[in-house]
Amino acid sequence: MKDSLIQKYNVPGPRYTSYPTVPYWDEGDFNYNMWIETLEKSFLETNESEGISLYIHLPFCESMCTFCGCNKRITRNHEVENPYIAAVLKEWALYCKIVDQKPSIKEIHLGGGTPTFFSPKNLEDLINGILAHATKAPDYEFSFEGHPNNTSRVHLQKLYELGFRRVSFGVQDYSEKVQKAIHREQPFHNVAKVSFWAREIGYTSIGHDLIFGLPFQTKEAVIDTIEKTKSLEPDRLAFYSYAHVPWIKGNGQRGFKDEDVPKDDAKRELYEIGKKSLALNGYLEIGMDHFALKSDSLYKSFETNKLHRNFMGYSSSKTQLMIGLGVSSISDSWYSFAQNTKNLEDYYQLLEWDKLPVYRGHILTKEDLIIRKHILNLMCQFRTSWKKKSDYFNEIPAVLEQLGEMEKDGLVVLKKDGLIITEDGKAFVRNICMAFDLRLKRKAPETQLFSMTI
Ligand SMILES: C[S@@+](CC[C@H](N)C(=O)[O-])C[C@H]1O[C@@H](n2cnc3c(N)ncnc32)[C@H](O)[C@@H]1O
Ligand code: SF4
Repeated sequence: MKDSLIQKYNVPGPRYTSYPTVPYWDEGDFNYNMWIETLEKSFLETNESEGISLYIHLPFCESMCTFCGCNKRITRNHEVENPYIAAVLKEWALYCKIVDQKPSIKEIHLGGGTPTFFSPKNLEDLINGILAHATKAPDYEFSFEGHPNNTSRVHLQKLYELGFRRVSFGVQDYSEKVQKAIHREQPFHNVAKVSFWAREIGYTSIGHDLIFGLPFQTKEAVIDTIEKTKSLEPDRLAFYSYAHVPWIKGNGQRGFKDEDVPKDDAKRELYEIGKKSLALNGYLEIGMDHFALKSDSLYKSFETNKLHRNFMGYSSSKTQLMIGLGVSSISDSWYSFAQNTKNLEDYYQLLEWDKLPVYRGHILTKEDLIIRKHILNLMCQFRTSWKKKSDYFNEIPAVLEQLGEMEKDGLVVLKKDGLIITEDGKAFVRNICMAFDLRLKRKAPETQLFSMTI
């Protein structure tokens, strides 16, 4: 790929885990009762075999990684575990009361923070507490994020017995200098050990998360990390662009200077070399930042156009209703989004008052629903179409005009009633989505809200 293309298109842009993206929500048009109304509507539309998804945010970490952009609370005090599990189960009980039926659960994802901060016993109580009010959908998929430094064999065994078959481990980079700068010292043998245990116990999809663009990261470090990764044969890989977002308060991105972070050409080279190395090692690009071996279920879903994307990232099938439990989690009823408070104390207080801890959200307009569909198609299939009348919107000619330059650069092929993203264009999927993002186009952000697209 030409260097000039990356220079030309590397601009701040959303990651599109939702449309509209969170900074463009119309919070003024949203209220608590509307969230409950759309939730009930969506639940009634969901049949038992489709089921619903649950995202459970477990926010605690023992130590602060200085690159991390996630919502977390650092503590070594494990007494926080029990009250938190009790609060999440209370939140779940409130949802079950609203829908007044046993939900059928298609997906559970434990994210964080560090889910493996919690003891295996507490995680077991959490999952059993959830399932006490629910049934499991056919082909359910349960997954969790494991920190290689504190995932024990008992964690893996217990979660396996509870139905978990997918785990992703945060690796980031194996270079000692990078690990020191990001305050995450995690030797290769820790990752090797947990990956080996997971395989031995019977997990069918093991993922590793890698990042390019970290402070002090070199091309040699990226190649070495991918080679070491390959030797453990994870089924899927995330290769994230380091999101340097120091303006988000309290995310702990410090411990290195701005000039230690590779930028522009240097970052682009890390991306190029990493992508090449992933391809050489048999990992196929299935969506933004995501790669999988041909045998992995995510690759199979990509091939059969079943891939879906939501706040949890990519998943192998679509569920219309996703409930986010825990502090800061986002729920999606398809017709609206709702986010829980990010403050732990408020989270406990609202639940004590028997209120869902939702503090903001967005009701999707008819136009939002059409654009959302196109953005999902682009992110999950690298193509979209407006052949069906209901998928057309008035601004399509303007979108095509905006994409004309990208067509000249060989990144998209524009057709009368659709478009296809080329192999070179896949790296720019966020930019292509931005051409459809009417909310972003109507009101450009006054300050930088998003990380760079590459
Ligand atoms: C929320 S973490 C949870 C996993 C677990 N706490 C751990 O650290 O192993 C999930 C993944 O998000 C990615 N991530 C976090 N902050 C990031 C950032 N600023 N830029 C890019 N990726 C990031 C990392 O790859 C990390 O493994
Ligand atoms: S990367 Fe994981 S362990 Fe580190 S601070 Fe973020 S959530 Fe916690």
